[in-house]
Amino acid sequence: MAIDPDKLNQLLGRFLDDFGAAFHAGMAVLGDKLGLYKALAEGGPCTSSELAERTSTTERYVREWLASQVAGGYVSYDREAGKYYLTEEQAFVQDENGPVFMPSAFEVVVAALKSDAKVADAFSTGKGVGWHEHDPGLFRGTERFFRPGYAANLISAWIPSLDGVEGKLKAGAKVADVGCGHGVSTILMAKAFPKSTFIGFDYHGPSIEYARNAADKAGVGDRVSFEVAKAKDYPGSDYDFVTFFDCLHDMGDPVGASAHVLQSLKRDGTWMIVEPFAGDSLEENLNPRGRAFYGVSTLVCTPASLSQEVGLGLGAQAGEKRIGDVVKSGGFTRFRRASETPFNLVFEARP
Ligand SMILES: C[S@@+](CC[C@H](N)C(=O)[O-])C[C@H]1O[C@@H](n2cnc3c(N)ncnc32)[C@H](O)[C@@H]1O
Repeated sequence: MAIDPDKLNQLLGRFLDDFGAAFHAGMAVLGDKLGLYKALAEGGPCTSSELAERTSTTERYVREWLASQVAGGYVSYDREAGKYYLTEEQAFVQDENGPVFMPSAFEVVVAALKSDAKVADAFSTGKGVGWHEHDPGLFRGTERFFRPGYAANLISAWIPSLDGVEGKLKAGAKVADVGCGHGVSTILMAKAFPKSTFIGFDYHGPSIEYARNAADKAGVGDRVSFEVAKAKDYPGSDYDFVTFFDCLHDMGDPVGASAHVLQSLKRDGTWMIVEPFAGDSLEENLNPRGRAFYGVSTLVCTPASLSQEVGLGLGAQAGEKRIGDVVKSGGFTRFRRASETPFNLVFEARP
């Protein structure tokens, strides 16, 4: 067996990229946490001393951080002026209120990696690691990472893609948002459809507490409530619309959850399931998106499912066919892909 030097160099190049990217995750979290990106975006071009002053931080640290960012292409440097700045594009991806907010993705990565010892142990024992067992940065990062996509698509594209749902929500419908986490999706829907009532369920108590406060802050506390409950035992049997955002695959018994959703819906009700974008086969997912999703799936989603009863372990790259089988095994007769984005698949299931 002879080593092919070209292939080896290619692999080493890939390794170096990834080595830098892994550290970049930490750099991005620091930049977000300390307000460095924000101060650059809002205050315009500046030296490292000026940025340190704007953020009440220490110049020597800020200079080193800026060097890492310029090397990585997330910040620009004007050599003549000796100033750092963000281009329009660099500012765009650092804006928490914009359609993409990159630092939140790295917040998810850094928080998930804090569970490496627990997950390594789970590989040996075959047991799971529950969502609630992770660093709280995961809950916050997930909320901040998903919010832009939900804000850009949920009301304008995903709900209109479902048969007859938008009209019901406008007129006044009863909605359950299951596995709601920090309640981002629940609150967005409540703001858009003031005649409807919404109840968010999640088994994770601290997330429900957070969601209640968020609803009050958003001024929709009158039509949204949040309760601790599991997908297989949440109360109610007359919902017009039930939603699951990025959580069905995290559940140990998604077939049991499907059966419970069915009995909680009115006969003409609709279940919307939002899942990470994926093809049906491994080969279809061997791309940068699949790589990221398989990573989070190994550290978070699969262990979450294995920590619950049944422990089906769908994983975050289950794909349409597998999700459809699960939904139909729970008793739904109609299932279709209603919408999609580069990151999400949106399914409609009906009794
Ligand atoms: C990836 S997070 C998504 C949160 C939220 N839907 C969002 O899109 O921001 C998955 C959520 O599913 C919840 N979850 C996992 N298993 C559950 C179960 N069996 N019943 C209810 N919630 C569950 C977790 O607590 C977590 O909040």
